This record gives sequence, C-alpha cells and structure tokens, in this order.
Amino acid sequence: MSRPFKSCESPGAGTTRTNFTADELLHFTRLITMGQLSACFAHEIRNPLMLIQGHLRLAEKSLPVDDPLQINFEGICRASRRIEEMAKWLLDFSRKRTPQTEKFDVAELVSDAVHFTQPYFQNQHIDVETQVKPGLPPVPIDRWQMIQAIVNVLQNAVDAMTGSEKRVLSITAGVDGNRMQIAISDTGTGIAAADLPFIFEPFFTTKGEEGTGLGLCITRLVIEQHQGTIAVQTGDSGTTFIINLPV
Ligand SMILES: Nc1ncnc2c1ncn2[C@@H]1O[C@H](COP(=O)(O)OP(=O)(O)O)[C@@H](O)[C@H]1O
Ligand SMILES: [Mg+2]
Repeated sequence: MSRPFKSCESPGAGTTRTNFTADELLHFTRLITMGQLSACFAHEIRNPLMLIQGHLRLAEKSLPVDDPLQINFEGICRASRRIEEMAKWLLDFSRKRTPQTEKFDVAELVSDAVHFTQPYFQNQHIDVETQVKPGLPPVPIDRWQMIQAIVNVLQNAVDAMTGSEKRVLSITAGVDGNRMQIAISDTGTGIAAADLPFIFEPFFTTKGEEGTGLGLCITRLVIEQHQGTIAVQTGDSGTTFIINLPV
C-alpha cells in the first residue's frame, strides 16, 4: 500500500534536545577525532605523493614516447593527481575558520557541494541533475558552513537510494520573491511517518552503526543561523528537502 505524501518544517530553534547520553557524547568526540586524523592523513599523504609523482616523471622521460608503457604511466599520473586533489579538498574542508558572511554565487555553492560529495557517489550509479537558473543574485552566506549543510543533505539522498532501481539526485535553485530556494530531491526510500518528527534531532538515525544522526541537525543549525528555513516533503517515490535563504 502506498504511503501518502507527507511534509514537515524543521521545528524552530529551542526545541532541540540538549541532554546527551555518555554514549552519544563519546561517539561525537570519536567523530571529531576522526575528522582531525583524516585532516592529518590528507596532509601527510602529500609528501609521499610528490615523491611518487617525481619518480614517475623521471621514469616516463626515460621511455621512448611511443613505448606502449606510456599509457600505463598516464593512468598512474591521473590517479595520483586525483588523490592529490582529494587530499586538498579534505584539508580545505577541515580547516578551522572564523565564520564569515559574504555574497556568494549559488551555482558555485551547489557545484562545490556536489564536488565534495563526489567520492560518496562513487560506484552508486547515481544520475546527478543540477538546474540552477541563470543570473541568480548572490546570497549572503558563510560559504563553508553552507557547503557543509548541503553536503549533509546530499549524503542522505545517496544513502536513501542505495536500494533503489531509479537513482536520480536532482538539485534546483531559483528565486521565489526575496528568498533563494534550493531543492534537493532523491528517488530513495522516503521517510517513514513515525521518523519524520525526529529527523532534525541530534543523534537520531535509522542507519544503525553506519549513521551519526548529526547531519540534519547541523544542516538545520546552519540554515537557521542564516535566517533561512528547511522543509521536507517525502513519499514512496522519494524525498525533497527545500532550503529557503534570504537573498
Ligand atoms: N533523503 C532521505 N531519505 C530518507 N531518509 C532520510 C533522508 N534524509 C534523512 N533521512 C532520515 O533522517 C535520519 C537523520 O539523518 P542525519 O541527521 O543526516 O543522520 P544520519 O544520516 O547519520 O542517519 C536518517 O537516519 C534517515 O532516517
Ligand atoms: Mg546523514
């Protein structure tokens, strides 16, 4: 039997649970440690990577240009550049920053968020459709906070589609009056009616040990700090998160 279409607005600030269990706090600090370690890892990986690339260039030069092995070198070079780029993104993302609001282009914001989530999309065979209306006004945002907010929604969309035959992630952006509206839709499982009131609560997850339950809570926090709102519409054919930000 198909579930009716349901929707929910994020509850206003002040309704969030603030008393956490020792287990939740322990998990939270473990995630922080993980983040710090992966930033160290991204930093440390650069030296051996430079060494590999240097040796590769030497070996490549010592081969005749028409040597069949040249194609293998090209492949290795491309892969190592990809690692370098990912390490750079990771370092950039994890850097501690003073919150800073500036007018930012929405097309760039969406493209950055998709770029960050790309490794998460790998092997998932997801069609990503982005439709950002041309000529949109820039929005006053903290770029890095807002990327984080959107990445969290994108990751959830990917998670929700792992068992779906049709896997389409669509992101649209346009202006509605004096609000910028960014909608992120997936063709995933949808959200059960019983779960819907809790999805923005910290540590609420239906993903067992795979989930943290922190993504949407952080997303809501960031959006509300920008005087925006986030709403969700969900049903059997998927879920749409609608973010509204003042222009
Ligand atoms: N696009 C979505 N489709 C289905 N369920 C979702 C979606 N986004 C969020 N949810 C539900 O909201 C819960 C909380 O999400 P989140 O705060 O990001 O934590 P986590 O992803 O770690 O579980 C998820 O466990 C899931 O049940
Ligand atoms: Mg999540």
